[in-house]
Amino acid sequence: MYYGGDYNPEQWPEPVWLEDARLMREAGVNLVSLGIFAWARLEPAEGEYDFAWLDRVMEILHGHDIGIDLATATASPPPWLTMSYPDSRPVTADGVPLSQGSRQHFAATSPDYRRLAVALAGTLGERYATHPAVRMWHVNNEYACAVHADHSDHAVAAFRRWLEARYGTVAALNEAWGTDFWAQRYGSFAEVVTPRRTPSSPNPSAVLDFRRFTSDSYLELYLAERDALRAAGARQPITTNFMGLFPPLDYWRWAQEVDVVADDCYPDPRDPESFRTAALARDLMRSLRPGQPWLLMEQASNAVQWRPNNRAKAPGQLAALSEQAVARGADGILFFQWRQSRAGSEKFHSAMLPHAGTETRTWREVVALGSSLAGRPAPEPVRGQVAIVLDWENSWALDQPNLPGTVDHAAVITDWYLALHRRHVQVSFVRPTDDLAGFAVVVAPALHLLTGAGAANLATWVAGGGTLVTTAYTDLVDEHDRFRDGGFATQLREVLGGHPVDFDGLLPSDGVSVTLGDAGPLPAGVVLEDFVLTTGTVAAIVDGPAVSGSPALVRNVHGDGTSWHLTTFLDAEGNGQVLDLVLPAAGVTPVLPGLPPEVEAIEGRERITVVNQSPQAHTVLLPDGERRLAPYEVVHLVRRAQS
Ligand code: GLA
Repeated sequence: MYYGGDYNPEQWPEPVWLEDARLMREAGVNLVSLGIFAWARLEPAEGEYDFAWLDRVMEILHGHDIGIDLATATASPPPWLTMSYPDSRPVTADGVPLSQGSRQHFAATSPDYRRLAVALAGTLGERYATHPAVRMWHVNNEYACAVHADHSDHAVAAFRRWLEARYGTVAALNEAWGTDFWAQRYGSFAEVVTPRRTPSSPNPSAVLDFRRFTSDSYLELYLAERDALRAAGARQPITTNFMGLFPPLDYWRWAQEVDVVADDCYPDPRDPESFRTAALARDLMRSLRPGQPWLLMEQASNAVQWRPNNRAKAPGQLAALSEQAVARGADGILFFQWRQSRAGSEKFHSAMLPHAGTETRTWREVVALGSSLAGRPAPEPVRGQVAIVLDWENSWALDQPNLPGTVDHAAVITDWYLALHRRHVQVSFVRPTDDLAGFAVVVAPALHLLTGAGAANLATWVAGGGTLVTTAYTDLVDEHDRFRDGGFATQLREVLGGHPVDFDGLLPSDGVSVTLGDAGPLPAGVVLEDFVLTTGTVAAIVDGPAVSGSPALVRNVHGDGTSWHLTTFLDAEGNGQVLDLVLPAAGVTPVLPGLPPEVEAIEGRERITVVNQSPQAHTVLLPDGERRLAPYEVVHLVRRAQS
């Protein structure tokens, strides 16, 4: 089990380094991510490297038996780079180049930035590949976090090359993008630009491809640095840090290219439900490379500084959130950062070692957590009975204007996860084309863009006995964001037992609701489908002006399986009412029965971890008897190993 955090010794004079190492030992730290923002110190001028200070830091760490996740230090280019190569900066859709003086001011496609980043990575690789303290390599940092898209001239040129590789001919591009709409026909790839600010809506197919390109161009940059490390002889695992459901990057693809999945996660202590969205991120990380442990690469020991108002973690909450990560497969718990900065925009961000020193609650909790994690075996969470389908390309197609009702796909996914989590059902994430064998229920919220392969996979799985849950915006467009011939849900209509023929946008003020079970009217939103039934039967109807009586939930038997199609969107509470019908019928059971929603239970092969994620005590019935759980208390229940 790794324990530690980002370590930025370049912000401190040398005598502090020894104290750091001593205190790291006291806290149980055995891994630090070193030098993530140290480029300006490592290469003070182009081609002039200074590794002497890093040698000394690494020697001190090694002498204290602290492992190093060595950064390639490329996340923040030094001022000399920006001054020498001003066109290496990213440009907004409005044509504004982003300035130095902060961080991440690089264009992923800038040849000069890339050349210099790869050179630094390679040089670090050559120097430290065989250093005994280096356990891992940390490439760049949170790709795209601050720059979701780049419209520089380099990006435009790279986008054209990307399109040419994808489509071959401009005729194929015109066909894919439907460019006869609004006279957008291109005569050559050289006429295409990135979707910069336009007078009216840009072409949605072009935007979809631009988002694919953006994820790919950052990935290409990561691969260039990774390959430079390998070429220099690095044999340790290489990774970079993900950010949960982060929209700009397709982490399914990225996960194939890192040796270890790593995540940064900052649940808001003010939000009593944020432990559930943190759980979502952890289940997603576990799912990206199934069967392999992942790292919680960054979390806050206490408050962050970047929200408008930053609540502190409650006493015990740090351990509770860390344990939910471990139970979901993390074999490392790390922080941003080791020692609180004394200058810069993050000086109020908590750290393992607070600016106020060791006489602090934060330090005591950090030390206690380190000692409780020390020597733990790598956890082995089970996969669970329910999967949620997540496909970034689908999200990119949906997160656009000009739909019957605008939808935030990440919020839709989250609302289904929250409902499952409150019911103590363990969830995995899958792609539409993944092998679904072994899942009892698959929830595919708003699977709007659905490829032929994805549709065939889902249909075969349902016919074989699976239970599929879908919502409005299912199977409406192809991979180019175009309607398919023949109407809507053309691929899944037999599975769904019907198909939509029209759409009615819904706002809360429209007063449309769905009644299910005994929960009272559940507000419906975004859109309501005019759904034509074939073999499906109506399990619930809509109530509201002009739409009363139309199908809200359609159940259909398909082969040996069942589908449940919701013709609208409900919130997490409403989704829960749907699940209360679906889950028992599909034989899905909670990890432990009878727990309150604030107490989570995570199932592993050897143990069940029970965590009270609330500031209230709860008396619960566990398999070994009744127990009073103090606020944020964690209990490990040993279970017999399963084959
Ligand atoms: C991100 C970054 C870190 C730091 C933290 C602060 O996760 O990777 O460098 O800025 O946010 O929360």
